[in-house]
Amino acid sequence: MVETRQDLAVILASRVPIVVVETHDETRFLDLITGLIVRGRPTDYRPLFRWTVTTGLQRLDIDLAPQLHNAPPDQVLRHVRSVEDPGIYVLLDFHPYLSDPVNVRLVKDIAVAPREHRRTLVFVSHGIELPPELQPLAARFELSLPDDEERREIIREVARDWAAQNPGRVKADPKAVKLLVQNLSGVDRDGVARLARAAIHDDGAITACDLPDVAKAKYELLNRHGLLSFEYDLARFADVGGLGRLKQWLTERRRVVSDPPPGLDPPRGLLLAGVQGCGKSLAARATAGVLGRPLLRLDFAALYDKYHGETERRLRECLAQAELMAPCVLWIDEIEKGLATGDGDSGTSRRVLGSFLTWLAEQQGGVFVVATANEVQRLPPELVRKGRFDELFFVDLPDGETRQKILEIHLKKREMEPKSFDLSRMAQATEGFSGAELEQGIVAAWYTAHADGAALGSGHLLSEFLRTRPLSVVMAERVAGLRSWADGRCVPAA
Ligand SMILES: Nc1ncnc2c1ncn2[C@@H]1O[C@H](COP(=O)(O)OP(=O)(O)OP(=O)(O)O)[C@@H](O)[C@H]1O
Ligand SMILES: [Mg+2]
Repeated sequence: MVETRQDLAVILASRVPIVVVETHDETRFLDLITGLIVRGRPTDYRPLFRWTVTTGLQRLDIDLAPQLHNAPPDQVLRHVRSVEDPGIYVLLDFHPYLSDPVNVRLVKDIAVAPREHRRTLVFVSHGIELPPELQPLAARFELSLPDDEERREIIREVARDWAAQNPGRVKADPKAVKLLVQNLSGVDRDGVARLARAAIHDDGAITACDLPDVAKAKYELLNRHGLLSFEYDLARFADVGGLGRLKQWLTERRRVVSDPPPGLDPPRGLLLAGVQGCGKSLAARATAGVLGRPLLRLDFAALYDKYHGETERRLRECLAQAELMAPCVLWIDEIEKGLATGDGDSGTSRRVLGSFLTWLAEQQGGVFVVATANEVQRLPPELVRKGRFDELFFVDLPDGETRQKILEIHLKKREMEPKSFDLSRMAQATEGFSGAELEQGIVAAWYTAHADGAALGSGHLLSEFLRTRPLSVVMAERVAGLRSWADGRCVPAA
């Protein structure tokens, strides 16, 4: 804590004209800076102000009523520009107004004024992107996150509060408390208090039952840009037909991934490339299921579309968030959409690729990455070079035996008895079908049977399959292209 305070003191003393603070913990920052100025009384004391659009400008170091007339963003800036006295102006949630060129210019006027004016603008928001013309004039300050000890203390305090308002004490299972403290790493003080309150207030106890909800709530708290999604739907190996080699690979590494022996680099992840609808996404879900970790999905295509120009920063944020959620599986679906080079935007793609590769190489193994790709030809060579991922698997069309297994799985899933169907005949009739097409066939045949008022039988299924022209036939060339790309690069997943 001491360190944080000193950092802030140093930044303020350096008289950098703009300070940027990205935090959800506005109260804590205000406490920190007020403590520093009011109680610390530094040698270069300056008056301290706080501004919000709803309350205007207010002096914090002495008791003065808010000056409401200064509420509009441009007015407060004009005011600061015109008073040539020293001062520290903390502007809360000013970020939306920085898209206005007039405000940007006013901020710059203040920032480039002679140093003797000794004015500092401190922008405090949950997220803030300074326009490029202001960046050279600014310093960033980060509030440190609470450590284990501090989180434990916050939880204790919440428990004391609860006990003060309710009869009895909080029943705390020591093991659950320890896990709670651990699981709340990466969450700021407000967040820790809020999540601890949620865990305690329902039943006056901290038990193992609280933990899954805490994980979910933590995910929601951290995922403020909505680019990582929390996937509830995990699979088991039994849900996946075929892919024997992939299953074996994961089984052999399950232990090491969760608990790497000292000195050994734990596996960081794998890439699944292959034919559409053959179970890549399903295998990603099964990986999380088998490793017993929560699954976070990162949509690369959306990262590009939504945050054009900020892609790299957003990616870094997403990866940092995944690390905060560790241990977890990070599933990057359609990785080629975000990393493919050769489009008009190759500068960004390169940088994003660079950031991603650096992260992949440096992260400590708490995040196991499963990347999936369809259009493998678009994958940049750097990504598929040996040593990036622990293994590259090629997911091909299922063979006869696997098709039979897949049919079995999906019939069972719909509560039908596989033995009452002629599955080997169906497996023969479905050469070239993907797993997805087999599943689709079952669904379509079921509807037909239902419309006929009959129970689903082999006849319905066969006629449905005979009617279907699988994608692998329609796009034979693409499949051949995929296979030749994979040859020598990938290990067959089956
Ligand atoms: N090997 C398999 N075993 C069982 N079901 C499968 C298999 N392959 C595909 N399926 C079924 O087809 C559905 C779609 O497959 P999935 O989404 O995993 O394929 P994909 O390879 O990710 O396809 P895409 O390239 O379109 O993303 C799965 O949810 C599952 O129901
Ligand atoms: Mg998929």
